[in-house]
Amino acid sequence: MPGFLTKQNLEWRARAREVAEKVVRPLAAKYDRLQEYPWEIKEAIAKAGLMGVWIPKEYGGSGGGVIDLCLCVEELSRACGGVGVLYAVNALGTFPVLVGGTEEQKHRFLNPIAKGEKLISFGLSEKFAGSDAASLRATAVRDGDSYVLNGEKKWNTNGGAADIYTVFAVTDPSSKSRRTSAIMAEKGTPGFTIGKVEDKMGIRCVPVVEIHFENCRVPVKNLLGDVPGMGFKHAMQTLDMARPGVAAQAMGLAQGALEYAMVYAGYREQFGAPISSFQMIQGILADMATRVEAARNLVYVAALAVDQKESNVSKLSAMCKLFATDTAMEVTTDAVQIFGGYGYMRDYPIEKYMRDAKITQIYEGTNQVQRMVVARSLVKESLGLKHLLDFIPKEVQKGVNDPETLKRLAEESKRLAEETAGALDVPTT
Ligand code: CAA
Repeated sequence: MPGFLTKQNLEWRARAREVAEKVVRPLAAKYDRLQEYPWEIKEAIAKAGLMGVWIPKEYGGSGGGVIDLCLCVEELSRACGGVGVLYAVNALGTFPVLVGGTEEQKHRFLNPIAKGEKLISFGLSEKFAGSDAASLRATAVRDGDSYVLNGEKKWNTNGGAADIYTVFAVTDPSSKSRRTSAIMAEKGTPGFTIGKVEDKMGIRCVPVVEIHFENCRVPVKNLLGDVPGMGFKHAMQTLDMARPGVAAQAMGLAQGALEYAMVYAGYREQFGAPISSFQMIQGILADMATRVEAARNLVYVAALAVDQKESNVSKLSAMCKLFATDTAMEVTTDAVQIFGGYGYMRDYPIEKYMRDAKITQIYEGTNQVQRMVVARSLVKESLGLKHLLDFIPKEVQKGVNDPETLKRLAEESKRLAEETAGALDVPTT
């Protein structure tokens, strides 16, 4: 365990582990089968005081950071990946408020969530606006003291169960950089309805729904930050903060699958010996454990970078999300392999880990988007490394870039510039 975790970090982790082992694990299969929100699990999480771990004390929370959120998500996901996101998605919904809300909005929206009285959902994606998060169509039009919401939101995790919705909508269609805004909407407001409820491969205990708005009036005071046009920036800053949470979910469930595989490999006998005594099984287990440990360290480093407001947060956050979630897919698939035919069956606990793992490579930005974020950051960083060019040999080819050819090309382009300037009758420099 990394030595940089504090006593307080470990205290949150211990509390989450207790809820995971006592309440979540025994109920995981039931709610996966039923595909229903597990209110009894949510109550146990709230009772353990975990709902406000990442929310500052002045807004009713416990004053922890993204690292504490990640430790709790990891522990819950070890027992059930669905419960991991059921919990983490509340952080996703609150981050825009923390990032861009006014003091009054922070008090109003964060207090009931920190106390576990209300749940929140994050509404960015639409049917035709997924990775291209800037191309939203839902609108919010100012009318007196209200914004009037119209349109649909897709993939609202926690939707239906949640009371508060952070909704991203177009407030200025003519603007490119200030087109959208984040607006808080509440369940029960006329014109707000839950649409299609998705039937999912994994994370089945947490609802994912469409939200429909039809002339839904929300007060102007629900516009995040009181300034329109900040929506895209708020969304991107939110995702930078939230992606370590998805990574923790993936890493936690990978750890859970690894533990089942370790135990099963020691218990299952073939050819007169436990399969854990076979080198090929040992190799698989060793690779699984190594990947999970590497993912864990990257998740913690990214979470701490977010908490310390480091400048390279987008890159680290994307890196940990893509590495931990790809790891989860590999590790859970390997765990099913170790269970053999039994691993493929629904009455064994392991195939659920594989189903729960898949979505982590997709939501809060596909891993293709994460690679794009990392690569864009590398391109920027490379500009500060130009001195390295001095150490890279330059190839010279006659007729292409030898000194004579370069001189001739420079003279030709100068002559061309003078001729063009002469023809246009403008002074040359
Ligand atoms: N922080 C602050 N500002 C940022 C930023 C960041 N991390 N990233 C971009 N911006 C700013 C840019 O500086 C730029 O600002 P200006 O216009 O003032 O110059 C503006 O935002 C536009 O930036 P880009 O040109 O980089 O934007 P883009 O259109 O190329 O998109 C993208 C970039 C990374 C692909 C982005 O659209 C993205 O992250 N897409 C994925 C969306 C996503 O993750 N959706 C998941 C939904 S949540 C979910 O899944 C919920 C659930 O169920 C759990």
